[in-house]
Amino acid sequence: MFDTTALNQQRNFFEGHAAIWLFGYGSLIWKADFDFLERRPAYILGWERRFWQASHDHRGTPEAPGRVATLIRAKDSICHGMAYRITPEVLAPLDVREKNGYLREKVPLTFVDDNGNGVEQSEGLIYLASDDNPAFLGEAPLAEMAQQIASAHGPSGPNRDYLVNLARALQELGAEDTHIFALEQQLRHF
Ligand code: SIN
Repeated sequence: MFDTTALNQQRNFFEGHAAIWLFGYGSLIWKADFDFLERRPAYILGWERRFWQASHDHRGTPEAPGRVATLIRAKDSICHGMAYRITPEVLAPLDVREKNGYLREKVPLTFVDDNGNGVEQSEGLIYLASDDNPAFLGEAPLAEMAQQIASAHGPSGPNRDYLVNLARALQELGAEDTHIFALEQQLRHF
């Protein structure tokens, strides 16, 4: 399996910073199994969430991969998620968790207040699985993706839970996401 751990250790966009804002858009929204100093709802501009990345290590296996979230560029789109202020040593275990194709990238992020309005900006870090990584699956009909998600299981549990938990977390954030909600609807057929 392709492994980005070593590559990510070279991607020190926040060298010397005592704390870093990490923006989570997938499992990092609802599964914060790492230490953080503070968390705030936030969004990033120019990106859309898609279930176009294979999971061989968490929500599937090399023989029967699952599908998990990544981001694609989409001008003027907004992707809502959760920002966590972390200390730099938290990155090492995150690099391992995100090793199947995700690379650290630096992006501008906007924090959101209780009314859903953007309030302040900061540079942040995302883990991005771009379309040139070996585990990138790309687009497929919604029903096909839902069927794959319904049947895949991996060391972190059923792939179905990843999607359902993400959809629930986005609803709690009051976030719009047509792709995720449509995919979750499809999942009910399987
Ligand atoms: C993220 O959640 O921000 C990255 C993708 C994932 O771990 O699901």
